[in-house]
Amino acid sequence: MVSRDIDIDIEFYSRDREPRRKDKDLFETVEEVFDKATVLAVIELMRRRCIKELKGVISSGKEARVYWAKGFDNEDIAVKIYLTSTAEFRKGILKYIRGDPRYEWITSLHTHKLMAVWARKEYSNLKQMYDAGVRVPKPLCVYRNILVMEFIGENGVRAPLLKELNDAKAIDSNMAERFFIDIIDNIYKIYWNAKLVHGDLSEYNVMVYRDLLYIIDVSQAVKIDHPNAHEFLYRDIQNIVRFFSNEIGIKTPRPEELFNGIVKGIREIT
Ligand SMILES: Nc1ncnc2c1ncn2[C@@H]1O[C@H](COP(=O)(O)OP(=O)(O)OP(=O)(O)O)[C@@H](O)[C@H]1O
Ligand SMILES: [Mg+2]
Repeated sequence: MVSRDIDIDIEFYSRDREPRRKDKDLFETVEEVFDKATVLAVIELMRRRCIKELKGVISSGKEARVYWAKGFDNEDIAVKIYLTSTAEFRKGILKYIRGDPRYEWITSLHTHKLMAVWARKEYSNLKQMYDAGVRVPKPLCVYRNILVMEFIGENGVRAPLLKELNDAKAIDSNMAERFFIDIIDNIYKIYWNAKLVHGDLSEYNVMVYRDLLYIIDVSQAVKIDHPNAHEFLYRDIQNIVRFFSNEIGIKTPRPEELFNGIVKGIREIT
């Protein structure tokens, strides 16, 4: 899953100084995809001893790339870098931003600023969930358009998504039942403890590592008092129920039962 190495010499870049043009190794390897501001942001995170070395790309989506990297204790970390904001992305995020007084002002920002706010929003959602006991990657640091978090996987190989695990026929019905209860429990904790709704929950945003589920991709999560929060919550539950009942084939409660149970704060619903 790692496409190539990006070796950035940390001893060199972590020194307290401005990078010069002749720091050309870094610029040459990364400049195809990173603009200069992003390169400088990576260097700043190295100076802050958050990232030691960027190793390689794990995933390149439309707006963000996720990298496998090393921290200063030589531990694996995941670095999510927001790179572009297409017109489509702007339109998409409006849906989550409108009605959320925390973020309404950002719609007028230019790309760099917008990406930075979006990365910070993902970091703070992640932190709120992590502190509430939801199983998400531990957020480590954020700077400009870059979010650094715990790596879910081993030796630079990321853990599979729930979707991939099912495609590989690696989920039996006992596991499926356990996973289903666990996801509903995590949705409950996101709602009641973190006071948030994920808003893009599906088998594509859940990873499975050492037999445990990790919920990822939380940038679009909204507060429970957002005007569309309950619509998003219902959709999240529907996606999960559809996956477990239609694709894996286990018996589940109906989405409306689960939704009512969660909103009313009834824990024993599954
Ligand atoms: N903490 C992590 N540890 C390991 N891999 C991760 C981590 N976070 C994300 N990934 C990998 O990167 C992929 C993309 O991450 P994420 O879903 O957060 O971004 P995205 O913007 O939705 O990208 P996409 O458009 O590809 O879905 C994930 O599907 C997963 O494979
Ligand atoms: Mg995703």
